[in-house]
Amino acid sequence: MTVCEYRPGLEGVPATQSSISYVDGQAGILEYRGIRIEDLAQHSTFLETAYLLIWGGLPSKVELEAFEHEIRYHRRLKYRIRDMMKCFPESGHPMDALQACAAALGLFYSRRALDNPVYIQKAVVRLLAKIPTMVAAFQLMRKGNDPVQPRDDLGYAANFLYMLNEREPDPLAARIFDICLTLHAEHTINASTFSAMVTASTLTDPYAVVASAVGTLAGPLHGGANEEVIDMLQQIGSVENVRPFVDRCIAEKSKIMGFGHRVYKVKDPRATILQGLAEQLFEKFGQDEYYEIALEMEQAVSEKLGHKGIYPNVDFYSGLVYRKLGIPTDLFTPVFAIARVAGWLAHWKEQLGENRIFRPTQIYTGPRQQGYVGIEDRPQIWDKQFAAPSV
Ligand code: ACO
Repeated sequence: MTVCEYRPGLEGVPATQSSISYVDGQAGILEYRGIRIEDLAQHSTFLETAYLLIWGGLPSKVELEAFEHEIRYHRRLKYRIRDMMKCFPESGHPMDALQACAAALGLFYSRRALDNPVYIQKAVVRLLAKIPTMVAAFQLMRKGNDPVQPRDDLGYAANFLYMLNEREPDPLAARIFDICLTLHAEHTINASTFSAMVTASTLTDPYAVVASAVGTLAGPLHGGANEEVIDMLQQIGSVENVRPFVDRCIAEKSKIMGFGHRVYKVKDPRATILQGLAEQLFEKFGQDEYYEIALEMEQAVSEKLGHKGIYPNVDFYSGLVYRKLGIPTDLFTPVFAIARVAGWLAHWKEQLGENRIFRPTQIYTGPRQQGYVGIEDRPQIWDKQFAAPSV
């Protein structure tokens, strides 16, 4: 075995072989199973795309109808899960609620028959079907309301918006939300997908796989950035404040949310599509107060940091779309998770096909051959910066 150099963040280190998605970060190309994201956004639906990702090909009409039917049938939550959610603090972040609920599914559907295709199919259906219901239910419950039951006559995206906003969405809003889900469904082995794969490689249940990925997606350097973008635009407040803000971030070496990507060194193709979707929504439902600020941000950051390949990523314009759809800011990342479940499950299934447990190595940098020091002779480690331990 060749000894490889250490690459922080595993940058550029292949950790698997995969036929699910392809990214060319220099040319700004993203393909799912070889199909360009622009084509899927225009012609496909989220559930058809999820089928493509998970089962490796576009479904026939009959297969798609069967898949959609199964998902409609499994949208409801067990009342015990709803009761569990009632105990969550209202101030808790919806991503934490989602992680707990995804993991709890393992209590109800615990049989781990990973070599049984029917078990795999049912787990895929349950997770795709129930995650949106969980997100919408937590939103209503934290306001003190009962969750809205899913409606079987509505499609996947329309039903989520209905459960969330308690009214049937405009067809354009539902279609645009469905495209957003397609755009967020998969993106090679990013942090949360890698987390899903590591968990999957232990042959644990798929609910633990998704729960682990949800926890990883929540961080502000990953899926959590979409929420931070809106906070940032709000904080900037006006077009005139954009350039001083950007200059200050550069001087202080702080990250500008919604910009930069480990792989893309040009504008993320999903950001381009999302910007177009935002404009369609603004045309029909009115402009967003932050859009002008966002446009100026893109211009200023591209001028100042374009030489480093820093351009808008998927999280930059998604928040503006979600705001227009009536989605609260702290649900942006759970909405990302609703979509990315498709990609996580595709990688789970692929991982099971040729599994070897992930167990990388490390370069040890600590001391060796240390003697055990008696308690009286030890140097102090907790210093004044910590408060005295509570009793
Ligand atoms: N704002 C300002 N400078 C940036 C940004 C940014 N958003 N992103 C990268 N840079 C600069 C870094 O300061 C660094 O400059 P230097 O070489 O002069 O020190 C250089 O670009 C490389 O940055 P790294 O942090 O090493 O890049 P990495 O590939 O590790 O990070 C990441 C990628 C985490 C996405 C980063 O760009 C970032 O933190 N962006 C902001 C958060 C964000 O939007 N995350 C969402 C990403 S998309 C997703 O996960 C769904």
